[in-house]
Amino acid sequence: MKILVTGGTGYIGSHTVVELQKKGFEVIIVDNLSNSYANVVDQIEQISGIRPAFEELDLTNTEKTNDFFNHHFDLKGIIHFAAFKAVGESVNDPLMYYRNNIGSLVNILENMKIHKIENLVFSSSCTVYGQPEILPVKEDSPILKALSPYGNTKQISEEVITETSQVSHIKAILLRYFNPIGAHESALIGELPLGIPNNLVPFITQTAIGLREQLSVFGSDYNTPDGTAIRDYIHVVDLAQAHVVAIERMIGNKGKKDVEIFNLGTGNGFSVLEVINSFEKVSHVKLNYKIVDRRAGDIEIVYADTTYANDELGWKAKKTLDEMMLSSWNWEKALAEKK
Ligand code: UD1
Repeated sequence: MKILVTGGTGYIGSHTVVELQKKGFEVIIVDNLSNSYANVVDQIEQISGIRPAFEELDLTNTEKTNDFFNHHFDLKGIIHFAAFKAVGESVNDPLMYYRNNIGSLVNILENMKIHKIENLVFSSSCTVYGQPEILPVKEDSPILKALSPYGNTKQISEEVITETSQVSHIKAILLRYFNPIGAHESALIGELPLGIPNNLVPFITQTAIGLREQLSVFGSDYNTPDGTAIRDYIHVVDLAQAHVVAIERMIGNKGKKDVEIFNLGTGNGFSVLEVINSFEKVSHVKLNYKIVDRRAGDIEIVYADTTYANDELGWKAKKTLDEMMLSSWNWEKALAEKK
């Protein structure tokens, strides 16, 4: 059972490769290494004992992508992670985001049509909901106008997949991630932000290890119990396991519709200060932080209704916030030791 994982050397991709291998799938990774490193393949091998096949490929290159599929058409499914994901960068260079995130998806779908590959799992985001009126947010909540080109590429991608499915054999599961954090328990793979991290948890661990001076907490005047914004943080290994369940569901023809959508979160919301407290507790490090103004484009509060994913997929996120923070910290320390 061969599965193609695009973006398989990236953060969520690499954890998913490991979980696929654990379940006996043969994995082939393609990645253009724009935001990851080829040695992640070695790390994956160290964890699982199996070396996944790897090809460096930019999926926006139509000719090279077609050539790749001409040699690898016997795929049971594709898990498509490869995409740009920095919100601020997308605002400054929208075309780069549309070309990359939409262009690569179109090339994949065209090849799925040609080679009769049936099953696609797609990385979407809770960003498609914007600030939902009703919490926790369910999969049928309205899709609000995207706040960034990045968010828009996720909305458009969901539409491109749905419309293509309607006129082809292609089936898809769209997974809407909440806030993935944490790292593999081996501390051999984890998130590797390029430059200054945008996301909260890498910024916390980099501050704690001394790479950053101080964490800015964006806003303390939100309408939440402690005034800081609330998110649904999910451990990346829990998230990775949901991808395996999703691809197995499609291969086993257990889907109820050609395109299914699932929220992937824990269902629990935590504030920025709660995340910081959890980090300080498990790491025994006092974090240098200060409260500053809100970050433009941030929403106040979002967390998932996971009932549908729990009931239909038979999957549930298991790890606690403390476990997430401890694994993130162990990963940051492992990185520091390598330097
Ligand atoms: C962000 C993106 C989202 C994307 C996700 C994927 C924005 C507005 N949203 O989600 O579209 O899908 O990343 O990675 O960028 N925070 C601080 N200080 C920091 C960093 C963050 O206080 O230095 C706060 C934020 O204001 C927010 C929370 O921590 O309340 C989480 O932030 P972050 O990790 O960046 O995730 P999101 O903004 O939820």
